[in-house]
Amino acid sequence: MSTRHLLGLNGMSESALREILTLAARYKAERNVISWRPLARQTWAMIFTKSSTRTRVSFEVAVHELGGNALFLNANDLQLGRGEPIKDTARVLGRMVHGVIIRTFAQQDVDDFARWGNIPTVNALTDDEHPCQILADIQTIEEKLGAIAGKRVAFIGDAACNVAASWVYAAEILGFNLVLAAPAGYESRIANRCVSQTRDPREAARGADVLYTDVWVSMGMEAEKAERAKVFQGYQINHDLVKLANPGAMVLHCLPAYRDQEITERLLEERAEDIFTQAENRLHAQKGILHWLTDKPVEDSLV
Ligand code: CP
Ligand code: NVA
Repeated sequence: MSTRHLLGLNGMSESALREILTLAARYKAERNVISWRPLARQTWAMIFTKSSTRTRVSFEVAVHELGGNALFLNANDLQLGRGEPIKDTARVLGRMVHGVIIRTFAQQDVDDFARWGNIPTVNALTDDEHPCQILADIQTIEEKLGAIAGKRVAFIGDAACNVAASWVYAAEILGFNLVLAAPAGYESRIANRCVSQTRDPREAARGADVLYTDVWVSMGMEAEKAERAKVFQGYQINHDLVKLANPGAMVLHCLPAYRDQEITERLLEERAEDIFTQAENRLHAQKGILHWLTDKPVEDSLV
């Protein structure tokens, strides 16, 4: 049996995503009664090079509630921070822990870890993708609007960022329409038959079932903050865009949010229930991911 990883949504199958989402829904519905412990007697390392609130806390709680122990490792405290290669770190941890959750810059580092560690490896955000976020987002959308297939999701903002990229892959896997609205120079560099791109946020919002945004300045891009603040003017999610969307359209934000930049304070507060449910669903979706990675049937997870 080969080791399962979640290195990105790129290359994932529809059946794998559906398995994760089904587990996520059960873990959410039965949080206080469920007795599956698929990570019993396991230790999972969490190596984070970038800041995190949601991803860190939701993974630590998820590992604990699935019966395991989470070992949070700030990359700067490891010998990794002093130049020990990923492949050596991975071979050491691979002999000690049962899985690893990594947030870092280069996708290659996560891919290399999976290759050399030979233990389940999760991408908890790289410069290329944020797969755990998009799985929680889809869970949130389907809870309220039903199956995402055939729906129209409008992503307004930095279409070249990691979150947008995972949306692009998800659209093709699950068969929904994704419209990306971004200024020149910030288009997505990846494409598929379910994705279209425009410079006009109004065109993207028209008829949308979901309006989605992310920060204008992703982690690692701080030097471009002033330039981006100018370029992204006009790419804010606000009530003018909501008027163009379908009645009942959801407004989502992966958070953290910068009020009155990518989203207005008023709209964020008006849609806070959905947006914070989206944040909560990180916990449930990641339980689905962790369980899926163990490749254990539900009945074998009872302890
Ligand atoms: N959305 C998200 O990943 O949040 P954190 O950076 O706080 O983990
Ligand atoms: N695109 C953002 C997502 C933060 C959760 C970043 O990479 O900083």
